[in-house]
Amino acid sequence: MSENAYQTIMDRVSVKKYKPDPVPEELVEKILAAGLAAPSGVNMQGTYLLVATGEKRNLLSKLNAAVFNREGDPFYGAPLVIVVLDRKDAFCRTYDGSLAAGQLLLAADALGLGACWIHRAKQVFDSEEGKKLLKEAGIQEEVEGIANIIVGYPDGPRPDKKPRKPGRVYRLG
Ligand SMILES: Cc1cc2nc3c(=O)[nH]c(=O)nc-3n(C[C@H](O)[C@H](O)[C@H](O)COP(=O)(O)O)c2cc1C
Repeated sequence: MSENAYQTIMDRVSVKKYKPDPVPEELVEKILAAGLAAPSGVNMQGTYLLVATGEKRNLLSKLNAAVFNREGDPFYGAPLVIVVLDRKDAFCRTYDGSLAAGQLLLAADALGLGACWIHRAKQVFDSEEGKKLLKEAGIQEEVEGIANIIVGYPDGPRPDKKPRKPGRVYRLG
């Protein structure tokens, strides 16, 4: 691993305030490719990415907020949402999808953007409205929502890295 890649991993933070400026398509493509570059159990490659901007992004925000009875935008104004879905017939789906989501977060950060994992994708895409969106997007397989990765240009200074709790590494031998 290059020193750069290591530094990106160590410095990544969740961004929770965004400018409305759209993410250029070439960067979107790079981030998506990084997500799909993740390993998967038995090389299943059952992770699907659903990209939403504009009105559809707003609808996903509304559905997400409704899951936990909140007002406001759980996507913090980010203009782009990449929903990570994984095939229900992939027995490692939660692990596979989470790993892809992690790579999306790192890629966005490495490319000078902000990103954050927003939860409740499972509830949204288990709902009838969520299933309708999957159908509309052309996803035919049964999939489970794993994560929403919001992406955009941070509004304001880069958040500080949150300190990590020590004492969580154990050794044998
Ligand atoms: C599984 C998971 C679910 C998360 N869900 C949310 C969420 O719904 N809303 C939110 O604001 N942040 C969410 N986060 C981001 C966390 O708040 C964030 O990762 C944590 O505070 C550590 O900060 P850092 O990412 O800057 O290290 C989630 C992160 C993970 C890994």
